[in-house]
Amino acid sequence: MLYIGVDLGTSAVKLLLMDETGKIHNIVSKEYPLYFVHPGWSEQKPEDWYAQTLAGIEELISNCKKGDIAGISFGGQMHGLVALDAKDNVIRPAILWNDGRTGKETDYLNQVIGKEKLSEYTANIAFAGFTAPKILWMKEQEPENFVRIAKIMLPKDYLAYRLSGVHCTDYSDASGMLLLDVKNKCWSKEMMEICGVSEEQLPKLYESYEVVGTLQPDIAGKLGLSSDVKIIAGAGDNAAAAVGTGTVGDGMCNISLGTSGTIFISSKTFGVDKNNALHSFAHADGYYHLMGCMLSAASCNRWWMEQILKTTEYVKEQENIVKLGENKVFYLPYLMGERSPHNDPKARATFTGMTMDTTREEMTQAVLEGVTFGLRDSLEVARSLGIKIERTKICGGGAKSMLWKKIIANVMNLTVDVIESEEGPGYGGAILAAVGCGEFSSVEEAAGKLVKIIDTIEPEPKLVEKYEERYQKFRRIYPTMKELFHTLAENK
Ligand code: XUL
Repeated sequence: MLYIGVDLGTSAVKLLLMDETGKIHNIVSKEYPLYFVHPGWSEQKPEDWYAQTLAGIEELISNCKKGDIAGISFGGQMHGLVALDAKDNVIRPAILWNDGRTGKETDYLNQVIGKEKLSEYTANIAFAGFTAPKILWMKEQEPENFVRIAKIMLPKDYLAYRLSGVHCTDYSDASGMLLLDVKNKCWSKEMMEICGVSEEQLPKLYESYEVVGTLQPDIAGKLGLSSDVKIIAGAGDNAAAAVGTGTVGDGMCNISLGTSGTIFISSKTFGVDKNNALHSFAHADGYYHLMGCMLSAASCNRWWMEQILKTTEYVKEQENIVKLGENKVFYLPYLMGERSPHNDPKARATFTGMTMDTTREEMTQAVLEGVTFGLRDSLEVARSLGIKIERTKICGGGAKSMLWKKIIANVMNLTVDVIESEEGPGYGGAILAAVGCGEFSSVEEAAGKLVKIIDTIEPEPKLVEKYEERYQKFRRIYPTMKELFHTLAENK
């Protein structure tokens, strides 16, 4: 049988066709625009996601036996607010995970309602990108839109709704709304009250591998598919990526280098970081995870390469980078503010330490290192909780770079397991579809059978030592700059 995994990303939707042995038959990618309406804002049109997903599915399955397609599932960008009216029309563009407009609402939640209460209700505190502060923003700034809301959902859930007609979400993605009681896997009554929404306005909750419905007959007809094709709930992109890299069960780690950068630690038991610097979310395997999220990761490299150096030759630009651990240039990777661990939408990016002899290569290297140091900040929080992590998987666009993987191994002092398919959320989505269709009895069983490690990068003690010294310097940059960032943000 064949399974479709849909990775609804921030720059594009990536679709992947996988069979029951885990073999990938086809991959298709379709882009859509991202709107930065004001500095720090970030929006997309749900209708664009759907149109490009449908066009993508059509292309993806153009050369396969359509009768073999059994299920479709998703890994979707998290936290985005999609609001539908009573006729299921989209009320306004979706406000995305990396949108920083809700500083005031986030402060209200964390300071007036209080972090302790939020953590008690949801296992998390408020971050600007989470869904609840966006609901409060809409209530305050767009009351005419707010009163029209009949359903709130997350980005990938809009696709599931259009394909199946069912308003649904899954526990992993719902965890990032700040409306879910993560431990008990139900909507939090207190949070609904604080945000002024009712349970009827929220989607029905499913495990990521559960079937929510089947393909609507008119869409099935258009695609030449059976209307028995199952739609499976899917997961937030990080949980889906973790499934796709076999980061399931207890104590496994995955690093994702996409537009955002995350470090994801799976756990069979529920746990909370007492300072809430790491998110405590449900996992797509039915259990839980802790996660640190940087808002700009591979997107820093993309910005540096394409906007500044005006090139797309990523491999060539990295070819001459050889002096690992010796770079005098530092890069602070906060192009969209930062989530973990600083929780500061006003933080900004900087280069520091250049001299007249600084080269282009050193600047590029600083970008890759700066993102890695930023991720290490979250790893350090996990280590401070007593979690022992010795190895990690890796996925996302940045994972294509051998150099970046080597920098990660040495900055983090972790063994990096390279897997056969670094497609992350798309592959995870297809695995969830296979589980939902009954091909495997659990997500753990499926990931265990389908995900293959093909290489291992070990940290080198001398480099680890050099990077340790560099990391300690990097850590001092944000606190030194913080006040200035806030002043700059206020003066616009
Ligand atoms: C996770 C997060 C990002 C988005 C990116 O909390 O905000 O990783 O899911 O798509």
